[in-house]
Amino acid sequence: MGKKYKIAVIPGDGTGPEVVAESLKALEAVSRKCEVDFQFKEFFLGGVQYLKNGMLLPEEILEELKTVDAIFLGAIGHPDVKPGILEKEILLKLRFELDLYINLRPVILLPGVETPLKDKGPGDIDFVIVRENTEGVYAGGGGFFKKGTPDEVAVQESINTRKGVERCVRYAFDYCGERDKERKLTLCAKTNVLVYESDLWNRVFEEVRLDYPNIKTDYQHVDALCMWMIKNPEQFDVIVTNNMFGEIITDLGAIIQGGMGVAAGGNINPEGIAMFEPIGGSAPKYTGHNKINPLAAISAAQMMLEHLKEKEAAGLILEAVKKVLKNDLKSLAAGKMGYGTSEVGDLVVSYIEG
Ligand code: IPM
Ligand code: MN
Repeated sequence: MGKKYKIAVIPGDGTGPEVVAESLKALEAVSRKCEVDFQFKEFFLGGVQYLKNGMLLPEEILEELKTVDAIFLGAIGHPDVKPGILEKEILLKLRFELDLYINLRPVILLPGVETPLKDKGPGDIDFVIVRENTEGVYAGGGGFFKKGTPDEVAVQESINTRKGVERCVRYAFDYCGERDKERKLTLCAKTNVLVYESDLWNRVFEEVRLDYPNIKTDYQHVDALCMWMIKNPEQFDVIVTNNMFGEIITDLGAIIQGGMGVAAGGNINPEGIAMFEPIGGSAPKYTGHNKINPLAAISAAQMMLEHLKEKEAAGLILEAVKKVLKNDLKSLAAGKMGYGTSEVGDLVVSYIEG
């Protein structure tokens, strides 16, 4: 018997439950193949519960989530809930309360996947973005003055703590060393304008890099980095950046790696708990139609196994996903795959079973 992991599963809204179901199928398949076992416990959070009884993220659930080995999330978001409520009170609250200070987003183009970048293929697009996940403008500092009047002032503050920046930068250096591709870490900031925030990031980066003599470093302003991600993505290995820049460049990354059908991410506390999710939202228009692509969620499950240091199990899922992409799917887009959501899950399982 291998190790048994307690996994909290939050299927969430929209197509979340459908893609989560396929991911759990894949996890169960790997547990039959290698020494790893899971105990899943579902938690029903999201727009549906909020509309039913006003529930967002109750204290008891938050406390219980602190006791599991990892959290697996489908999607949170509901067309009938005003934007901002579920995000702030569930997703962002989980990030803050569990101190999930790293948002890890691999941007890897797998064989068989189309990229909108002309003349780029797998191998050209193969990097990882380390996004700070608990500070910056996401900390929510700011306020209004004279709201609703012609003299209105709106202030949105970016909070950057020495501790918060340093732990993120150190994680990125460590990750870059372990990834062992080119051992090159790029800091993405905006030192020419954000003379406080980016100055702190840059000073911390310059200081921490002395502890990592084997890692090459580079600096790019965020605007230029967006251009280079399109023109010359092969130059990147690992990129580290603040919360808001990371928020933006990770979506740019998602589209060049093939889009929401494949993009997955992790919200990680390296000393504690971590939560994995597909990047695409709840896709209300596809809900219940067996049309959504589950591969992003299945890749999130693979990231979760990597995080749990279950390399063999993670490898089985990755290889199965690669085979489905190469051999089976007509397109990655919802409704155009040539298979339904659950059939894609079945294909993954059949490749895992070998
Ligand atoms: C993400 C999302 C969230 C963010 C939203 C849903 C609050 O876009 O995880 O990238 O802004 O961080
Ligand atoms: Mn985002």
